[in-house]
Amino acid sequence: MCGIFAYTGDKNAQPILLDGLQSLEYRGYDSAGIFLPGSPLVKTPGAVTELRSRIAFSSDAKSGISHLRWATHGEPNEVNAHPHASQNGEVYVAHNGIIENYRELKERLIKNGHTFRSETDTEVLAHMIEVEIHQGKTFENAVVDTLRQVRGTYGLLVSYTKEPNTIITARMGSPVVLGLGAGENFVASDASPILRHTKQVVFLSDGDMAILTPTSHRVRTLSENEIKRPAQTIDWNVEEASKGGYPHFMLKEIHEAPEVLENAIRGRLIQKEGRAKLGGIEAVSAELADLDRLLITACGTAYYAGLLGEYLIEDLGGIPVEVELASEFRYRKPIIRKGTAVLAVSQSGETLDTLEAIREGKRRGALTLGVVNTVGSTIARETDAGVYNHAGPEIGVASTKAFISQVAVLSLVALFLGRSRSLSEDDGRKIVEALKKLPELSRKVLALSDSIKQIALKYKDARDFLFIGRRYSYPVALEGALKLKEVSYVHAEGYGAGEMKHGPLAMIDTKFPTLAIVPQDSVYEKTLSNMIEIQARKGPLIAIATEGDERVKEIAQDVIYIPTTIEQLTPVLSGIVVQLFAYHFAAEKGLNVDRPRNLAKSVTVE
Ligand code: AGP
Repeated sequence: MCGIFAYTGDKNAQPILLDGLQSLEYRGYDSAGIFLPGSPLVKTPGAVTELRSRIAFSSDAKSGISHLRWATHGEPNEVNAHPHASQNGEVYVAHNGIIENYRELKERLIKNGHTFRSETDTEVLAHMIEVEIHQGKTFENAVVDTLRQVRGTYGLLVSYTKEPNTIITARMGSPVVLGLGAGENFVASDASPILRHTKQVVFLSDGDMAILTPTSHRVRTLSENEIKRPAQTIDWNVEEASKGGYPHFMLKEIHEAPEVLENAIRGRLIQKEGRAKLGGIEAVSAELADLDRLLITACGTAYYAGLLGEYLIEDLGGIPVEVELASEFRYRKPIIRKGTAVLAVSQSGETLDTLEAIREGKRRGALTLGVVNTVGSTIARETDAGVYNHAGPEIGVASTKAFISQVAVLSLVALFLGRSRSLSEDDGRKIVEALKKLPELSRKVLALSDSIKQIALKYKDARDFLFIGRRYSYPVALEGALKLKEVSYVHAEGYGAGEMKHGPLAMIDTKFPTLAIVPQDSVYEKTLSNMIEIQARKGPLIAIATEGDERVKEIAQDVIYIPTTIEQLTPVLSGIVVQLFAYHFAAEKGLNVDRPRNLAKSVTVE
């Protein structure tokens, strides 16, 4: 998830772009760049402050494009920062998204004598547009014909030195907003950089393209020359806009689950063979073939995702897995023999406990792997191989979308390992089909937000809370309790439902509510009976259950129904519910859910 911002008008573009880009920093901050026709391209590692310090000129260009990067392909550095120039420096492109078929497009261009400066997928677009122009096409048609050859997602900005005041933009899967001013026009990833200039905006839809000059804008598609996209007036302030109109980043990021799931599986599923394609670990597939023990290590929410990884990889991959709290792992003197790998799960890729656990594993001769969200982060660089989440930057301290993405990616790893062992093609196909349906099912769960809010408000005065579940729902119970603790400061515990009678049941009374995760899976009956133990002690019960389950209503006062999916992937759906529950519970108390007290987003101390 990068930030793009462009301007064409009657004012100097340089200050407008730099100020606007600043409000997009929540979208990406590992590198930045700006192109102003008539001036050299300026790019830098870091965000807008670094970019400002790199610009040694004051341009009077009245248009330009700019970008803030959240790396997906290629390390975060100056060369890979956007905008990217074409072979002869006539076309400049800034891009938010992933070009899936960029390798084959790049190979074709290299065969035709093109040389590439960066490792990015984006650079091919600049070269292709220039090639089309040199074949006599107009700037507009060159972009159209280029995009017709592209597979993937994009929020795109294109500038052409021979038409400096024309900006072309296009959208497929990544957000693009036009800002319509008097004698000036804007393009951005969201309205936050536009609102200080105009409240008149046009939200582009997938497949749309727009051509902007200072005094005109035209929206079209790759097949139709002009289509209608009505302008609308929005009265958000800049902060609201960066939250996409949500009151908090946490709620915005919970609602990103469908896109996050699409990004996690995009280009990684081979339907007909029931396989997962994971370029990042294929490089070590020889070592993985001899893998006979996997140690997953992480902290906090990532640790609970790791617990689900244990269930998934043992269940589908047939490999013994142990999950280790990273802060304990290195001091426990773990036994590591040939055939053991250590897999770190981390959103930031900078959590010191997890990093040191990986280093300990490396010192003891283990193959080290990573499931990491931040491209180019230390854990990503120090592990031998891994899989990126592509969940985009997570701003809320309480991890939400990263957890959903981690579960999806760990199920891909389990499928990858399983299909290279005993998992049948048929079973593999069932998992691929279920993974592909997840984004749509997650939208159905997100639509329950208001009803979940009503239930959370009903229990908002509770001082203690228990979350219970069995098998795949057990780690979700632990994660639900952590989310509630983190953002509402209420005492909450996650427990295996079967453990209740071994102690926690003593705590239960009319003031101690329990949220039970009880989908209709292989341990449904067992979980129901644990709920009945609580009901017998008059403990209030909220249940997360499978749509159509009438029995659970007889036991729980409140029921949140989730759609059916395979048992292994149900945590993605019940995970969204416990995130929404914690959010509404805390937001109702007026707490700063994005910046809970005493916590940091990335814990880089032991
Ligand atoms: C989760 O909401 C917390 N922010 C925290 O527990 C977090 O999961 C933990 O610090 C691990 O962070 P990482 O995924 O960036 O390594």
